[in-house]
Amino acid sequence: MLIKQAPDIQPSEITAEAVYRERRRFLGGAAALAALAVTPAQAALPPYKKNAYGGGETANTWDEITHYNNFYEFGTDKTDPAKYAHSLKPRPWTLAIEGACRKPKSWDIDVLTRAFPLEERIYRLRCVEGWSMVIPWLGFPLAGLLKQVEPTGNAKYVEFITLHDPQQMPGQRQAILDWPYREGLRLDEAMHPLTLMAVGLYGRELPNQNGAPLRLVVPWKYGFKSAKSIVKIRLVEQPPISSWMKAVPREYGFYSNVNPEVDHPRWSQARERRIGEFLKRPTLMFNGYGEQVAQLYSGMDL
Ligand code: MTE
Repeated sequence: MLIKQAPDIQPSEITAEAVYRERRRFLGGAAALAALAVTPAQAALPPYKKNAYGGGETANTWDEITHYNNFYEFGTDKTDPAKYAHSLKPRPWTLAIEGACRKPKSWDIDVLTRAFPLEERIYRLRCVEGWSMVIPWLGFPLAGLLKQVEPTGNAKYVEFITLHDPQQMPGQRQAILDWPYREGLRLDEAMHPLTLMAVGLYGRELPNQNGAPLRLVVPWKYGFKSAKSIVKIRLVEQPPISSWMKAVPREYGFYSNVNPEVDHPRWSQARERRIGEFLKRPTLMFNGYGEQVAQLYSGMDL
């Protein structure tokens, strides 16, 4: 299994041998699941190396990343997903890609995970509510996956759809959102090399509360764009209406790029609280990824 590195990073800096071995166990499929029976909280965490994607920042701890979540399918409290997401069954799992493409296709999640080389990417995640984290994801760029289905000229946007199963996701019994959770990107945003499909974090399989077995990560946009537990991706001609746009159109737009200069209608977006820290820090334009993504929006009023 090939593990690619971020640009400008020495191989020795990124994949410590322990992490590599841990990932090999993860990538081994069923056998790996048994090997991971020890909960990460008990075991020593594999080391990760700071890399270019996180701006050299220190990652949040496993505990912080897995116990302070937004996943309304399991409740609206930050602590609900860690308490209740055990009812989600991330295996067997199928991802289907359909719509405006020449070769619509479905994958079993384990086939998918083996088909694409996994990379470790340490990304900032900035939530629209004013908090942020730094997370060492394990995943692969969405672009490679989309290329496989050969989008047609009519594919202008990409819609991401979460599982809809109130038995596994009890929060869906309440009409908090119009389930299933939906999000969307423009095709060029979806094809951008920073846009990741994550299947793990800290070199381990993605915990249920973080969107197992497969979630989107778009680091320059507010966290709600990063849909969890995805079962379907649709290539479409018109901008998809996301769950949040439908629920509160005045507050959530389609683009939702991190922008400290544009306030949320009910609060400022100028600063953020990094989970685990006391003082707030200034929020960066495009969450600090402007150099890589600003050209996607040239000429647009953000
Ligand atoms: N995806 C689904 N299906 N349901 C959700 O409620 N919440 C979003 C996003 N993806 C959400 C979702 C929001 S608001 C944020 S901030 C991130 O997930 C949080 O990701 P994390 O819990 O892994 O930090």
